[in-house]
Order: sequence, then C-alpha cells, then structure tokens
Amino acid sequence: MMAERQAANSNDDLGQRIAEAADVVTVALDALLPRADGPESRLTEAMRYAALGPGKRLRPFFAIETGKMFDLDERSVLRAACALECVHAYSLVHDDLPCMDDDDIRRGRPTVHKQYDEATAVLAGDSLLTVAFEIMAHPDTHEDGNVRAELVRRLAVSSGAQGMCGGQMIDLLGVRDDLGAVARMQRLKTGALIAFAFEIPLILAGAKGGERSSLMAFAQDLGLAYQIVDDVLDVEGEADLLGKAAGGKDAEKGKTNYVTLLGLEAAKERVALLSGQTKAHLEPFGERARYLRASVDFVLDRRN
Ligand code: IPE
Ligand code: IPE
Ligand code: MG
Ligand code: MG
Ligand code: MG
Repeated sequence: MMAERQAANSNDDLGQRIAEAADVVTVALDALLPRADGPESRLTEAMRYAALGPGKRLRPFFAIETGKMFDLDERSVLRAACALECVHAYSLVHDDLPCMDDDDIRRGRPTVHKQYDEATAVLAGDSLLTVAFEIMAHPDTHEDGNVRAELVRRLAVSSGAQGMCGGQMIDLLGVRDDLGAVARMQRLKTGALIAFAFEIPLILAGAKGGERSSLMAFAQDLGLAYQIVDDVLDVEGEADLLGKAAGGKDAEKGKTNYVTLLGLEAAKERVALLSGQTKAHLEPFGERARYLRASVDFVLDRRN
C-alpha cells in the first residue's frame, strides 16, 4: 500500500521534475552556445536554432535525476548533460539531411537544412559536436582533469563509430530479417547516447561494481525500448504532437526496425516486456531510484 502510494506520488512529481530539468538545461545551453558578430553568425544561429528548439531534453533529465541519486555537484552534472544534449542535437541535424532521412520538420519547425541550407546544416552539426567537447573539457565541468578526460573519452566512444554513428551507418545500410541485428542497430544509434546520460553521474561519482553494472544494464534496455517506441510512433503517432514526420515514413523509406519486422502489436509487446526488464535493473537502488523507475513508464508511454 505504502509502495503504491509512493509510486503514485512519484508519477505526479515526475512530469514537473522533467519540465524543470528541461528549463534549466535550455537556459544553460543558451549561455554555453557561442554567438558571433561576423558572417559566421549564420553558423552560430543555426547551432542555436537546432539545440535550443523545443526538445524533450530527456537525456539531460536522466543525467540530472541520476546525479541527485548520487548527491553530485549540480554544476558538473549540468555541464556534462549540456555537452551530451549538443551531441544529440547534432545527431538530429545530420539525421534529417536529404542524404540521410530527408526530413523537413523537426521539433515542430523546419529542419535546419530547410531553414538555412544543407551546407549550413552540415557545419552546424559539426560545430555542435565539437562544442560538446569544448564544454566537457572545460575546467568548470570538474576540477580533476582525469575525470574530465574520462567524460570526454566516453562521450567520444558513445558518439562515434562504436556508438551513435555506427548505428546510423547500419540504419542506412538496412538490416535484413534479423531481430538481433536490428536490436544491435538500435542499441548503437539511440542506446549509446542514452546510456551515456547515465554514465555521466557514474563517472562523476566514481561508481564501480554493482551500482555501475545495474545502472548500465538499465540504460541499455531503456535505450532499446526508447527507439522501439520511436518506431511505433512513426506509424501511429500524430505528426502535430510529434513535431516530426509520421504516417509510416520509416517503412516508406525501406527502413528495418521492430515495427517493420514484427508488426505494430508485436513491437508494442516487446516494449511492455522490456519495460519490466528495465525497471528490474533498478532493484538494488530501492527507493533512491523511484523517479527513475517512474520515468520508464513516462518515456515509454509518451506521445511525442
Ligand atoms: C529523437 O530523439 C531521435 C531518437 C533517438 C529516437 P528524442 O525523441 O529524444 O527527440 P527530442 O530531443 O525530444 O527532439
Ligand atoms: C534515431 O532514429 C536518430 C538518431 C540516432 C539521430 P530516427 O531517424 O528514427 O529518429 P527520428 O525519428 O528522425 O527522430
Ligand atoms: Mg534516422
Ligand atoms: Mg530520422
Ligand atoms: Mg524515428
């Protein structure tokens, strides 16, 4: 009874906690992103357009919420979370390019290459990626250079060929009738950056052993489930709510994912199964993880 009441309270507070984290992150990003006066202001404006648009800021939220579990210095977590959000924003700018998914709408507005042009979108993506490392490596992120180096290294691995970019390559090549290969693609293209959100507090806390492995297992399953929901929303989501194309665009483009392979209902069953599995990884944290536990349902039941 007690546990049920606590779970209900956690759900009530959660939306507010997510909204608060999103506001804090948007303000911090605004302060961290460069501005320019010369002709290169076109580039800094495009970067800001991409990063400051109305995203859900879920990756930063995961980092901030987990940072609270470990009682970490808020400024360190926030800066690292902003660096991660810059990489995420860059990944979306490039994902939308005509040579990739060729999308016109993102976060309810024209994609960067539509609002500006393709070359500007390529450069804005490049610059968001590089500014992420500038933010992460800055002494304000953490006084210990070894900690900063580890954050930089893990962000690099999560973003590159062994992480998000590797997954994007597989997505573009297409995977044939092989659920294992699709799961690997999803874990790389989406799971890697989501997992890094949880690595930020783990690195800052110097957490090892059971806590680290439980939280990373949680992050891996959450990342996979997150992308399956994205693929479900591509079919049954409302473009207005999503702020991006829907109506089965993935299938139209010949993409392979859980929905195109298994069908909508089986993909949703997979999410339900993964949801329980994901939450089970939080057991060792008990009540400390109540908001993370509640956030699993929140993000998997999302409409946008
Ligand atoms: C979209 O990410 C791309 C995926 C990896 C599924 P989000 O759903 O987090 O998009 P924003 O940041 O809220 O716009
Ligand atoms: C995830 O996949 C994209 C990235 C890793 C950047 P999608 O291509 O399905 O994401 P959306 O649907 O365009 O947001
Ligand atoms: Mg894509
Ligand atoms: Mg896309
Ligand atoms: Mg999608």
